[in-house]
Amino acid sequence: MPASGGKIAIILGTRPEIIKMSPIIRACKKRGLNYFILHTGQHYSYEMDKKFFEDLEIRKPKYNLNVGGHEYRKQVGLMIREIMGILAKEGPEVVLVQGDTNSVLAGALAANKLGIKIGHHEAGLRSHDLTMLEETNRIITDHISDFLFAPTADAFKNLKDEGIADDKASLTGNTVVDAVFQNLELANKKSDILKKLNLEGKDYILATAHRAENVDIEERLKGILEGLALVANDFNLPIIYPIHPRTLNNIKKFGFKIPPGVRAISPLGYLDFLRLESKANLIITDSGGLQEEACILKIPCVTIRDNTERPETIKAGVNILAGVEPNKIWQSAKKIIKSRKKWINPFGDGRAAERIVGALASSGKNKDY
Ligand code: UD1
Ligand code: UDP
Repeated sequence: MPASGGKIAIILGTRPEIIKMSPIIRACKKRGLNYFILHTGQHYSYEMDKKFFEDLEIRKPKYNLNVGGHEYRKQVGLMIREIMGILAKEGPEVVLVQGDTNSVLAGALAANKLGIKIGHHEAGLRSHDLTMLEETNRIITDHISDFLFAPTADAFKNLKDEGIADDKASLTGNTVVDAVFQNLELANKKSDILKKLNLEGKDYILATAHRAENVDIEERLKGILEGLALVANDFNLPIIYPIHPRTLNNIKKFGFKIPPGVRAISPLGYLDFLRLESKANLIITDSGGLQEEACILKIPCVTIRDNTERPETIKAGVNILAGVEPNKIWQSAKKIIKSRKKWINPFGDGRAAERIVGALASSGKNKDY
């Protein structure tokens, strides 16, 4: 394993992967490990990509495949072909991927084909909804990985239940906690987003929605926008909505208008966004990362989806599944705001990256979480 000086290929491609890989990249640097970053370019707009390398002070990727914006077949096909070429040339000992995107699937399949070991951070998450592309990506990646880093006990159990060998999986926590802990103070110091938006803190609701199964479907996107309008009106608070490019494209395509009470803004960098999240009254989202961060930052959360691969947040009583029916979104917002909160953070203690990098450096045998 890399302890013997072996090279680590860190493959990433989207906004959440850059954020959640950043503590791992820091840990590799701190240990003086031999690593390089391969960016698929799945996300490519400045505010979805480079802004995060700047905010998180991560070294520029050694490779960028620039395959963003293509349709699925072409994107995944190109990624696999290009990643295989680079891995064959670089000869890393292990490839590390994080999460459930197309970039993760392509990275894992490319490594598997070349007989290179695979580490998967955020292993074991399951929505049990096979209509989600991400669910297929997770299952395939987990079953061909050699080092499975489960962020929570639930995720670890899912791996056991699927018969993944004991010595492959370890419980590490999620690096989302590391990223929040490493950047929140900095965000509080450096970000002037509240001032820019003329907000004080706790006087707004934060919303995001980008999942294909929501925003690509006209009726569902309509339901979300109407639900946001109902909440804004009833709570008498503005909803700040940094719009993902996929959603913006669809709002234009369907000819929708942003409803009154909702302030649509461009996607934000991590420091501004973290600051905005930490001072929100409520979060309404279909994002995986936001469900986790809401839990860590102690902000009540309404998840506008029919299921979640983060059931820990629901069990903790700080997140509620609302679907996309407007009235249900509104009622769920009222319910979660009133509910008694235990504020358990099931995602770890902020040292997940150290465990993951430590485990890679000692053949994945680190299980002392
Ligand atoms: C992807 C992931 C999703 C993850 C999300 C994080 C898959 C299948 N989906 O979804 O799991 O939650 O990233 O945000 O891997 N676009 C731009 N600029 C960008 C990026 C995207 O304009 O920087 C537009 C393009 O029109 C693109 C569309 O958004 O075609 C969708 O992007 P894509 O990466 O395919 O999917 P996401 O919705 O971002
Ligand atoms: N995020 C951000 N700016 C934004 C919206 C989100 O920095 O305008 C961060 C957020 O803090 C979280 C991550 O992006 O860490 C979540 O990414 P996204 O919702 O795109 O993907 P998911 O987590 O659903 O895969």
